[in-house]
Amino acid sequence: MPAKSVNDIVALCKRRGFIFTGSEIYGGLGGAYDYGPYGVELMRNIRNAWWNAMIYARNDIEGLDAALISNRLMWKYSGHEGSFSDPLVECKKCGARMRQDKMKDQTKCDNCGSTDLTEPRAYQLMMGLSIGAMADGAINAYLRPETATTTYVNFKNVLDSKPHKLPFGIAQIGKAFRNEISPRGFVFRMREFEQAEMQYFVNPSDDEKYFEYWKNERLAWWINVLGIPAEKLRFLPHEKLAHYAKAAVDIEYAFPDGFDEVEGVHNRQDFDLGSHTKAQNEFKLSAKVLENKDSTTKLSYSDAQTGENFVPYVIETAMGVNRAMLAIMIEAYDEEDLGDGKSRTVLKLKPWLSPVKAAVIPLVRNVPEIVDLSNKLVDDLRKLAIGRIELENSGNIGKNYRRHDEIGTPVCITVDHQTLEDGTVTLRYRDTMDQVRVKTDEVPQKLLEIVKQ
Ligand code: GAP
Repeated sequence: MPAKSVNDIVALCKRRGFIFTGSEIYGGLGGAYDYGPYGVELMRNIRNAWWNAMIYARNDIEGLDAALISNRLMWKYSGHEGSFSDPLVECKKCGARMRQDKMKDQTKCDNCGSTDLTEPRAYQLMMGLSIGAMADGAINAYLRPETATTTYVNFKNVLDSKPHKLPFGIAQIGKAFRNEISPRGFVFRMREFEQAEMQYFVNPSDDEKYFEYWKNERLAWWINVLGIPAEKLRFLPHEKLAHYAKAAVDIEYAFPDGFDEVEGVHNRQDFDLGSHTKAQNEFKLSAKVLENKDSTTKLSYSDAQTGENFVPYVIETAMGVNRAMLAIMIEAYDEEDLGDGKSRTVLKLKPWLSPVKAAVIPLVRNVPEIVDLSNKLVDDLRKLAIGRIELENSGNIGKNYRRHDEIGTPVCITVDHQTLEDGTVTLRYRDTMDQVRVKTDEVPQKLLEIVKQ
């Protein structure tokens, strides 16, 4: 049974070192979280799976990692400075600030129920910066609110250095920042979060075909790669479109409180490449960087066969990595009744996603031969380079099993007196709790098979 409440996941994350409140000992900071020893591993595994599917498994997509801080003009001409905002409403009675489109009842304050509310006003979501020695406090840069725009401005750089025919894509994984009015749902809505986004450049006449293609590809990835059951996922087409979009659909996951967005697929048309090409004329001419319009960097594509030059359309896939991790943990979470008043919490992660691939436990720690054999086994398993292998040398075996069940370690390997006699160790499987004895030299091969699943 998956988690019934996100609170189960919040408690597990803190207890077992997946996610902590940001700046915790100074009272925290809304919408900022720190990822602990096991959270970083799970995030890394999700990122790698996305990168594998988007880049290593294909010929038509390149990777990019652009700067998080960027020139203010880029966000002015992308349209974000003018229109990347949420409608903010304030309660005149208690001072609560709410995002109007997320209020329970738009006529009443979510906090105190008062109907004395301000008119909604556009609240800028980007985090502005004043950087450089000459900065006078005025905003001259922004932290990026999405990876996408930082990909568009590199369209020409990538295409010139690695030629491609249309359609082709550019993918990025990285941080994005938004001054959300009301961060909520643990890591669901944060002010600093991580996106995995891919921009696919197509001939304008093919946009609808590739919009359908990427919708289906992405949904299939959630089901077949991450292992989220199909019935827990659905498409939700947008009725109200963002300033750049011709069509947009969310992929939603059934969180304990209801379906909500984990990824978006958008047809951004030629909005971004077109406006950045046009904007440079304005800005370069006014800054006297450019004497003649023809030296503007054109974010366009030349078809070698037809000789046509045009601005491609963009189909974007935009996933939140933190939301993916949250959905994965909710699905994997289980509380099992073991009878006799005993129970256990277990994270039934797919082994390739597990933060720790195996734990080696010397059952007796004051017998040097057992400790030596355990160390040797850990060394051998680390040579497989499959991720984190832990040596447990504290606490009792029951506590060790409980901890590894809760962090989702697929197998624990116990070294004991019998190992000294017949060279076998005990493998204890997380999901079934079955214990089997196997020859120590067979363990690496067995583990390789387990972590492929
Ligand atoms: N480039 C398009 C874009 O940014 P978006 O729907 O605003 O589209 C894409 O964001 C994904 O990023 C969302 O589906 C969500 O998973 C994640 N995301 C957006 N805002 C977030 C936030 N404040 N906290 C956590 N994840 C967020």
